[in-house]
Amino acid sequence: MICCKHYSFNLACPFGEVVASFDINLIANATYKHNFGKTPVTKGIDFLSVNDIERYDANCWLMSPPCQPYTRGGKGLDDQDPRAKGLLHLIDVLPKLSNPPDYIFLENVLNFEKSKSREKLITQICLMNYEIHECLLTPLQFGIPNDRLRYYLMARKISTFNKSEKVITSQKYFEQAMIYTSWPFECMLNNNKENNKCHHWKQQQGQQPLEFNVPELNSYIESCLDEKELKKYLVPEKNILKSFNFKFDIVRPTDKRCSCFTKSYGSHHVFGSGSLIQTKNLEFTDYEFENPKSLLELGLRYFTPLEIAKLHAFPSKSELSKSPNRKNENRLDSFNNNYAPKLFNDFELMQSSNYLEFPDDISLIQKYRLLGNSLNVFVVSELLRCVLFNLQVWICGLFMPEAFITATRQAVAQKHKWSLEELVLEIALNKSGDPDSFVLTGFKLEDTFYQALNGKTIIWVFVQVEEATPTTEATINLPVYLNEDRSDLLFIVNIESKSY
Ligand SMILES: C[S@@+](CC[C@H](N)C(=O)[O-])C[C@H]1O[C@@H](n2cnc3c(N)ncnc32)[C@H](O)[C@@H]1O
Repeated sequence: MICCKHYSFNLACPFGEVVASFDINLIANATYKHNFGKTPVTKGIDFLSVNDIERYDANCWLMSPPCQPYTRGGKGLDDQDPRAKGLLHLIDVLPKLSNPPDYIFLENVLNFEKSKSREKLITQICLMNYEIHECLLTPLQFGIPNDRLRYYLMARKISTFNKSEKVITSQKYFEQAMIYTSWPFECMLNNNKENNKCHHWKQQQGQQPLEFNVPELNSYIESCLDEKELKKYLVPEKNILKSFNFKFDIVRPTDKRCSCFTKSYGSHHVFGSGSLIQTKNLEFTDYEFENPKSLLELGLRYFTPLEIAKLHAFPSKSELSKSPNRKNENRLDSFNNNYAPKLFNDFELMQSSNYLEFPDDISLIQKYRLLGNSLNVFVVSELLRCVLFNLQVWICGLFMPEAFITATRQAVAQKHKWSLEELVLEIALNKSGDPDSFVLTGFKLEDTFYQALNGKTIIWVFVQVEEATPTTEATINLPVYLNEDRSDLLFIVNIESKSY
């Protein structure tokens, strides 16, 4: 479901904007519209022309192409499968664009890493000077009790962001390619400057090793379902009885893991489509799969769509109703720790005001299909934030303007190994993509500035003192206050009057 990437993007990059979403599945699109109020483009990706794509002027592409070309069930036809056409078309289009995206994110299943489609994608993006990170990760590694091993690729255009970085040929890339299987990636924790390719994330001395405490499934299970509701989710007896000797995955509420939910979950395919919850005789765990009748005593039921959505880390209504005071306390704590990877426990603090909802006319089985196609929102948002966008500041966690300014300043200083005194703050309008810039919203601009700046994107850019705009008669000192009564001055920024 394309909703998941939109939510992940919102969490990773709260000031970014999703300019368009694409899917040919009308039910996925109806759900997307229900949640975001905007209808995705239903034209097949493989039919988009260069002009169609350039019209959106998007600097970031998030993609989850169909996985059947890379699975045994889908015959593993790879780039020869018609369902791979959309991806292959985008690979062909990339060099024809006058302004290719700065960021590319791709998700797929295990085996994609061995595919010709990956080879074609990497060959193309290496030619176009993208820096690439690949990994195979599961939400369990992020503190979420759901196993969903997925392949992820994050590619960033070197020419835009790091002109000093050496361009690497695809041949060299394939020779050295590293597909990370642990999180955070080893190179992020490596203090050795030479090997520190993912330069931004260092384990501080004395810091606890990163441990993700996976909670019990209990905390994801809907406790308020009445008898009638529960009945809807019970596995039909006939499906259990015909599953002779199929060792399907049965979990109990106290377990800390459940298996991957596929799009056949909730159908008669009980085996291999996702875990079933045992609701009765919980002391009984010695399952006799060769005697399916014995399993009827276990009160086996499917996870509900809301439970799966929670396991996929979609924001949900129930989480939003938690105490606001607790949220603020934790946000302050996290401010002191804004370079660290986030545990899933922290995730609830980052919830936006949106939550996943399905339109009323979507059936239970359609919900399961959409969720089976979905990504884990938290995993994707962490990969976007920490690897693809390389954001060093957990912007969601900063709710004090003073702290925001200090943290952004520190982030730029640390990145370039500049001292804080070497940095000055400049203002830029309607400009984005500068890796040392931070977008500010919610500022009230007064008097003549208000007229000039109204409706424009305002960005703070940190520059080295010697590169700063010299102060002249045409420079205006713009004071920025915390409050309307102007009692607390936050900082002063110099702007060139003629530019506005
Ligand atoms: C594996 S699912 C990924 C869904 C995923 N969770 C997401 O966030 O987009 C692949 C999706 O691609 C869509 N799709 C398949 N072929 C397509 C094409 N040629 N153009 C656009 N969408 C396509 C399918 O309808 C399906 O929803």
